[in-house]
Amino acid sequence: MKNNHQVYRDRRAALLRSMRAQTGGGLALVPAAPEVLRNRDSHYPYRPDSYAWYLSGFPEPGAVIALVAGPDGDRQILFCRDKDVEHEIWYGFRYGPDAAREIFGFDAAHPMSELDAMLPDLASNQPALYTPLGMHASWDGRVTALLNEVRGRARSGVSAPEKIVDVRQALDAMRLVKDAHEQDLMRRAAAISSGAHLRAMERTRPGWFEYQVEAELAHEFLSCGAQAVAYPSIVAGGPNSCVLHYRDNDRQLADGELLLIDAGCEYRCYASDITRSFPVGGRFTGAQRDVYELVLAAQQACIDAVRPGVDFHDYHKVAERVLAQGYIDLKLCNGTLDAVLESGSHKQFYMHRAGHWLGLDVHDAGLYQVQGASQKLVPGMVLTVEPGTYIRPAANVPEPFWNIGVRIEDDVLVTASGVENLTAAAPKSVADVEAACRR
Ligand code: GLY
Ligand code: MN
Ligand code: MN
Repeated sequence: MKNNHQVYRDRRAALLRSMRAQTGGGLALVPAAPEVLRNRDSHYPYRPDSYAWYLSGFPEPGAVIALVAGPDGDRQILFCRDKDVEHEIWYGFRYGPDAAREIFGFDAAHPMSELDAMLPDLASNQPALYTPLGMHASWDGRVTALLNEVRGRARSGVSAPEKIVDVRQALDAMRLVKDAHEQDLMRRAAAISSGAHLRAMERTRPGWFEYQVEAELAHEFLSCGAQAVAYPSIVAGGPNSCVLHYRDNDRQLADGELLLIDAGCEYRCYASDITRSFPVGGRFTGAQRDVYELVLAAQQACIDAVRPGVDFHDYHKVAERVLAQGYIDLKLCNGTLDAVLESGSHKQFYMHRAGHWLGLDVHDAGLYQVQGASQKLVPGMVLTVEPGTYIRPAANVPEPFWNIGVRIEDDVLVTASGVENLTAAAPKSVADVEAACRR
C-alpha cells in the first residue's frame, strides 16, 4: 500500500497530465469547502469538499490547492491557514503551511494570506485556468478578480488564460473509477453500515419510534469510527415505507408492519448506502413476504447483470422486467409483460432508477451517458443496486398489499470478473432477516 500522501500526489499528477493533454498545460485551482453557519454563531459540522479531499486528504477549511502544469514542469502547491496558537487554544489544531507541505506531499505550501498576491503570477501566461465555477459564489468572485488582475498586465506582455475549464470534468472521470485506496475505505464504510442495519434488525421492537431506530444506527456508525451519516437516515415504518425520501422519522412502529431503513455512514469522506426492509415483530405477513421475495429476486438479477463491459443502464432494465412480471403474477398489473412495460403501468409501484454511482458523494460524480451512449462498466466503479416496490392504498390494489414499501439496496464494486458486494453482511434473505429480527 502506498503511503497516504503518495496516493494524493499521484492523483494530482494525473490531473496535471490531463491538463497538458487537453490544453497544453495550465493552472488548476481547487478550493476547500467554506464553513457554513447553522444558526447565530453555530456552524454546521465541517465536511471537506469532495474534489479538494480527493486531491489532498487535507481536512481544514480555508485552503486552496494550486496545481501548475507549466513550461518548467509541474508544481503542486497548497495554500492553507497559518499556525495560530491563540486560535488553536479555542478551536483546535491547525497544520500550518510547513507541516501541511510535509504531511500532504506538496512541493510548496503558503499561508492563505499570500494567495491573492501570488495567484496572478501563477496564472500569468497560462493557456488555461481549471477551477470549479458555480460551486461557491465567493469563489467565483475571487476567480473573476484574479482573471481581471492578470488581464490588467497585458501591456507588460503578460497573457491571461484564454480558456476557463471546469476542473470537475477531469476529476469526475477520475473519481468514477476507484483506486485501491478508495476501495479499502469504501469496504470499511460498507462494513460499518452493514453492522448498523444488523443492529437495527436485532434491537427494533413494536412500540419503538422511528427515531429510536435512527439512534441505534447512529450509535453503530459513530462507535465504529465513522464521522457522519452519508445522508440523513430514512427510517420509514408502515405507510412511510412508501415515501421514497421520507425524513420525519417520528412514527411509532406497530407490530406486523414493515420498516424500511435507508441509511449509510460516511467513513473518511466515503459514502455507503444500504437499504433493508424488515417486519417489525420479526415475521413477514403473506403479502409482505410475496413483495419482499419479488424485490429480492429483482435485486439479485440486477447484481448478476453488473459486470465489466456492459452498459450502466442495463441493470435498470433487468429490474423493470423482473418487477413487472412479478406485478403481473401478483395481479397488481394486468396484461403481458411487453404490454405492461410499454404502457408503464408498473411505474405505479416502481418509479425510480435501479442505482447510481457511489463514492465520496452518495450520488457520486461521473457521467451516466457519454456522447449519447450509456457509460460502460469497468473494474473499479462502485454503484448501488436498489430496486424497490411501493404500494400505496389504491382502488386497483387488493387491500393486503396496501402500505407495503420494500427496497433492498447493496453497494457493489465492479471487478474483473463481475462484482464484489461490499454490503453482503447486512442480512437479506427472508430467513436471515427474520432470524436477525427475532434475536
Ligand atoms: N439513500 C439515497 C439513495 O439511495 O439514493
Ligand atoms: Mn439509499
Ligand atoms: Mn442509493
